[in-house]
Amino acid sequence: MRFMSSMTPLLTLCVNIGMVLVIWAGGLQAINGELSLGQIVAFINYLISTMTPLIMMTQLSNTWAAGLASAKRVGEILDTEPAIRDAPHARPTLPGPGAGVGMDDVGFVYAGDGNEPVLSNITLEACPGETIAILGATGAGKSTLINLIPRFYDVTTGRVTFGGADLREVTQDALFAAVGVVPQESLLFSGTVRDNIRYGRPEASEAEVIAAARAAQADGFIQNLSQGYDTRVEERGSNFSGGQKQRIAIARALLVQPRILILDDSTSSVDVETETKIQDALEASNGERITFVVAQRISTVLKADKIVVIERGRIAAQGTHRELLATSPIYQEIYDSQLGGGERLAAEAGAQA
Ligand SMILES: Nc1ncnc2c1ncn2[C@@H]1O[C@H](COP(=O)(O)OP(=O)(O)O)[C@@H](O)[C@H]1O
Ligand SMILES: [Mg+2]
Repeated sequence: MRFMSSMTPLLTLCVNIGMVLVIWAGGLQAINGELSLGQIVAFINYLISTMTPLIMMTQLSNTWAAGLASAKRVGEILDTEPAIRDAPHARPTLPGPGAGVGMDDVGFVYAGDGNEPVLSNITLEACPGETIAILGATGAGKSTLINLIPRFYDVTTGRVTFGGADLREVTQDALFAAVGVVPQESLLFSGTVRDNIRYGRPEASEAEVIAAARAAQADGFIQNLSQGYDTRVEERGSNFSGGQKQRIAIARALLVQPRILILDDSTSSVDVETETKIQDALEASNGERITFVVAQRISTVLKADKIVVIERGRIAAQGTHRELLATSPIYQEIYDSQLGGGERLAAEAGAQA
C-alpha cells in the first residue's frame, strides 16, 4: 500500500510533466513552423498510451503483494503437522460386533502453558445399543469428553477403548469410518443440500439420503424448499435456520451408519416436539449403535440408558434417570430447575388466575 500510494502520484506527476514538456517544446516548434499541430496531438496520444500500462503495473504489484500474503497463510495451514498420528503398527480394522466404548480413569489437559486439567478420573462404559446422555453446566467439559472418542484429542492420562482395545492402537481412518459426530456448531459447506448430507458417503443412493433426512426430521422442510435437495447452501449455511442446519448435520452423520454416534448438543435449536421425533427415529434404527448425546435440556436425556452428570471435569453422578433422581442431589437440582420449576411456575400462574 505504501509503495502504491507513493508510486501513483509520482507517475501521474511524470505524465503531467511530460505533457507540459511536449506542449512547450512542440508549441515552440509549431510556432516556428517546424511541426504541424497534428503531430503534437499524435505525440500527446502516444505519451498517454505508454504511461497507462505503467500506472497499471503499480496496481499489479499491489495485487501481487496481497496474493503473496494470502498464499503464506494457506501455506501455514498446509504445513501444519497434525498433533495426532497413527502409531507405527496401528491396526486398520476395529474390533467386530459387540464392542463397547470404555473410558479408564481418563484425565485430560489441553496443550499449552498453565492449563488446568479439564477432565479427571473419568471412568465409564457404553455397551452396544446403549444411549449415554451427558449432562452438565457450560464449561464442565462435556464437549472435551466426547471429542476424545473420535480421537480429536488424545487423552493425557488413562485410556479410551473400543471393544477393549486402546483407540491409539487402530488407525484414524478406521476410527473415523465408525464414528459419526454432529458437533456443537453444525457446519454446512457450499454446494447443494444433497451434497451436504452425502458428504461422509458420496456414493450413497438417493433413497439412503432421503431415509437419513427423514430420521433427522429434515426431509419435510427440504421438500418444501423451492429446489428441494438441489437447493444451494450459501456461505456457512446462512440461508438456513439454526435448527435446520442442525438437522442437516444429523442427517449427514446418520448416512454413514456409524457404530458410534455423537450428538454434541445437536438439537439445541430444534423445538422439543421435533427433538422427540428425532430421538424416536434414532431409537428405531438403533441396533448395535452406541449413542452419546450431550444435552442442556433434561427432557433430552430422560430416556437414555445411562446419564452421566459432569461437574467441573469430574463425574458427579452416573445412572438411569430413576436412580439419579433418588440418589443424586445435583441431578435433583437440575431436574427441579428445569422441569419442577416449570411446573411450579404453571401452578403459580394458575393460582393468580
Ligand atoms: N481448545 C481448547 N484449549 C484450551 N481450553 C479449552 C479448549 N476447549 C475448551 N477448553 C476449556 O475446557 C473447559 C471445558 O470446555 P468444554 O468441554 O467445551 O465444555 P462444555 O462442552 O461442557 O461446555 C472450559 O473451561 C474451556 O475453557
Ligand atoms: Mg460443549
